[in-house]
Amino acid sequence: MMHKFFATVPCGIEDIASEEVHEIIGCKAKPDVGRIFFETGLESIFLLNLKASTLNKIMIQICHGVFSELKDIYRMVKDVDYGWIIDADQPFAVRSERVGIHDFTSMDVSRIVGQAIIDSYKEAYGRRLPVNLDDPEVEFYALVRDQEFLLGVNTTGNSLHRRGYKAYMHPAALKPTLASAMLRLSGWKPGKGILDPMCGGGTIPIEAAFKAANIPPGHLRLDFAFLKLKFIDENDFWKLRNRLFAEKRCEAPAEIYGMEKFRHHLEGAMRNSEKAGVRELIEFKLGDATKSFDYPDGEIDYVVVNPPYGIRMVPGGSPRGLYSRFLKALRERVEDAVLILITAAHKRFIEAAEENGIEVIERRIVLHGDLRARIFKCKL
Ligand SMILES: C[S@@+](CC[C@H](N)C(=O)[O-])C[C@H]1O[C@@H](n2cnc3c(N)ncnc32)[C@H](O)[C@@H]1O
Repeated sequence: MMHKFFATVPCGIEDIASEEVHEIIGCKAKPDVGRIFFETGLESIFLLNLKASTLNKIMIQICHGVFSELKDIYRMVKDVDYGWIIDADQPFAVRSERVGIHDFTSMDVSRIVGQAIIDSYKEAYGRRLPVNLDDPEVEFYALVRDQEFLLGVNTTGNSLHRRGYKAYMHPAALKPTLASAMLRLSGWKPGKGILDPMCGGGTIPIEAAFKAANIPPGHLRLDFAFLKLKFIDENDFWKLRNRLFAEKRCEAPAEIYGMEKFRHHLEGAMRNSEKAGVRELIEFKLGDATKSFDYPDGEIDYVVVNPPYGIRMVPGGSPRGLYSRFLKALRERVEDAVLILITAAHKRFIEAAEENGIEVIERRIVLHGDLRARIFKCKL
């Protein structure tokens, strides 16, 4: 039986996330803003949570419609049967997000949605569901965006960008979901040489290594929220997880390179890759991305990088000089490669690219946390 789903995704990569969902479960997803919608069977919940690399949270859609007043939301939510999702003694919580101008707060939305779920359950099953906002077993997510209302059950728990391999927290770490989206945008395929010359804590090479070895990015997560949902058979999940693990490619070629100027970050990247189970697939090197002779020796077809762009990260405050020296060194060392770069200092990057005769062939705005950044695709 088909069910409606939606997944939250970083703003700006909705099309890439939709393609990934299609690749994993074969269904067409519809991109929206910060989320994508699709229809599939409940069995896809395991596969998507384990294999998706660009999604944050995967939700079963409970209701979706337009409203004019809070009581319309109450009616929509109360009109649903929750008996297949939640047991009478399972505590639940509603988390709400509100976008637009309203005469109520997101707390009001959580309250009204929570009440409607309790009332619906009581009417159908004669029991009052307990609420626990701190440690719920079942979490509902409500979105009010202008006059649109969307309600889902969280199957993921904490966002999937928390892969569980961070032994070392780089102060300016890239979200693995964005790193993965950049890899997909680059067109890189395992077997081709790929370098992150400013790899920090190693997020980009680690995501590449997961792909090269066919390791599900969610393989370290044992805290999935779906494990508490009533209709889930946990054994089916463990069987699938074991099967996916058996499909790991052990002999994947190590043509994935990570370079970093600072030893403590490089050591952190190594620790992260160790914890992620892909240490042997990545060649890490201490080196300066502005010096062409520092680069690793192997064939480099793709360069995917998240250089510093912040005031605090770059001496002097502006990354203009760094970008320029980096692109010059890259041109000297690498020929005919694809460059994918994410930065919030986009004007500085465009100036440096023009100065070095590098053409930008694609660009897009993405949200990295609260920060508006741009991803550039260039041909070297
Ligand atoms: C934004 S951080 C990268 C974070 C990384 N993507 C992650 O997720 O952990 C930029 C990194 O570039 C490094 N860096 C700055 N200048 C560099 C240079 N000239 N050569 C190599 N690395 C450099 C910094 O030390 C920093 O770790």
